[in-house]
Amino acid sequence: MAMNSIYFLLICQLCVQRFDNELKVANAKSIIKKFDVNDDPTVNINNENTTPIIGVLTQEISKLIANKFPEENYNSYIAASYVKFIESSGGRVVPIWIGQPREYYEDIMKKINGVLLPGGSTYFNQSNGYHDAGRHIYNIAIEMNDNGIHFPLWGTCLGFELLVYLSANSIEPRTYCSSRAQALPLEFQEGYEKSRLFANASADIIHILKTYPVTANFHLYCFTQETFAAMKLNEIWRVMSLNHDWDGLEFISTTEHLRYPFYGIQFHPEKNLFEFVKNRNITHTSLAIRTSQYFGNFMVNEARHNHQYFANRTEEANKLIYNYNPINTGILGSSFQQQYLFNDKHYATNTVNRINKNVIIFSITCIYATLNLS
Ligand SMILES: *[C@@H]1O[C@H](CO)[C@@H](O)[C@H](O)[C@H]1NC(C)=O
Ligand SMILES: *[C@@H]1O[C@H](CO)[C@@H](O)[C@H](O)[C@H]1NC(C)=O
Ligand SMILES: *[C@@H]1O[C@H](CO)[C@@H](O)[C@H](O)[C@H]1NC(C)=O
Ligand SMILES: *[C@@H]1O[C@H](CO)[C@@H](O)[C@H](O)[C@H]1NC(C)=O
Repeated sequence: MAMNSIYFLLICQLCVQRFDNELKVANAKSIIKKFDVNDDPTVNINNENTTPIIGVLTQEISKLIANKFPEENYNSYIAASYVKFIESSGGRVVPIWIGQPREYYEDIMKKINGVLLPGGSTYFNQSNGYHDAGRHIYNIAIEMNDNGIHFPLWGTCLGFELLVYLSANSIEPRTYCSSRAQALPLEFQEGYEKSRLFANASADIIHILKTYPVTANFHLYCFTQETFAAMKLNEIWRVMSLNHDWDGLEFISTTEHLRYPFYGIQFHPEKNLFEFVKNRNITHTSLAIRTSQYFGNFMVNEARHNHQYFANRTEEANKLIYNYNPINTGILGSSFQQQYLFNDKHYATNTVNRINKNVIIFSITCIYATLNLS
């Protein structure tokens, strides 16, 4: 019995020490950097950021899902498909909260390498929501790029609409469109191959995008060439492709900012990869997977040109999406298979305290167990 308790105490101590060491390493102000394969210039030939982190903006939660969790007071969400879209191209994700002051966005954007504005169905007229957060992010990203920091923004569907809306000084440039559950090939426009988005796409990727209905469209609004011309938006954005909605209305489907590394697409590559709710006309062929991954790789590669980082590993660990778990919302009637759901408590969560508390509780439990054994 005595022997057992000594072993137990030893193991406990080792465990606590390990926890302690990990914390010490994580908290160390100046981590002595060990050589890593990615630091080898013959491996990392373009001096890429090999650990890019993309902020994904939350947005107002749907009533359908909020009502399923009356106790939790969830008020914002991220569809997990956007997180997986970034992760499957080698990026990591930090959720960016809506409803925060400009300083919050300035602070987080100094520490990450790009932002993705996801699609969804919120309105731009609600204060302290998706639109206001997007406006801060857009303005800060312009300032950063003007100061020589390559900071990419990516907008998918509503996120694309928001980018263009903001570039039009919040004068509504959108038109009603009927393009729900519409799978389409892209109608490339002259000069598309000179765009940054498609310049390096292989002939095979272009062929698939041109030939097969591999883009998943789910939008009630769109932009027309006429509006772009009338509002001089084509002096800000390059239009690479068009499409036609169920009623034959022509809409803009891919764009990039002429001056900044900002990209906007009307369709949803993340849905081909990760959304499987039935009867949505989402193409899941291997060809569609290939083209969807092209867009994910492109976005994350843009972020690899940015070399910003968090102040220390603890702060990074606290901000990453790994602190949250997605919920199976597909079975609750959502068109998103999984969603990360957030409430006010999450915005204030400090996971450092949680780790420290665990170590203390663990130590006490060990001592208690050892005393009991002997
Ligand atoms: C890590 O960085 C954060 C943010 O700058 C700071 O508040 C915190 O004290 C730092 N922690 C350590 C251990 O340096
Ligand atoms: C926002 O716009 C939507 C759609 O046009 C409208 O239904 C809603 O009433 C508006 N809300 C506010 C607060 O103006
Ligand atoms: C899927 O697309 C076809 C045309 O390709 C259309 O007839 C059908 O209505 C669409 N399905 C849904 C669920 O919208
Ligand atoms: C295209 O590829 C070339 C050669 O690898 C590279 O220098 C360039 O940055 C790439 N362009 C984009 C927009 O990624």
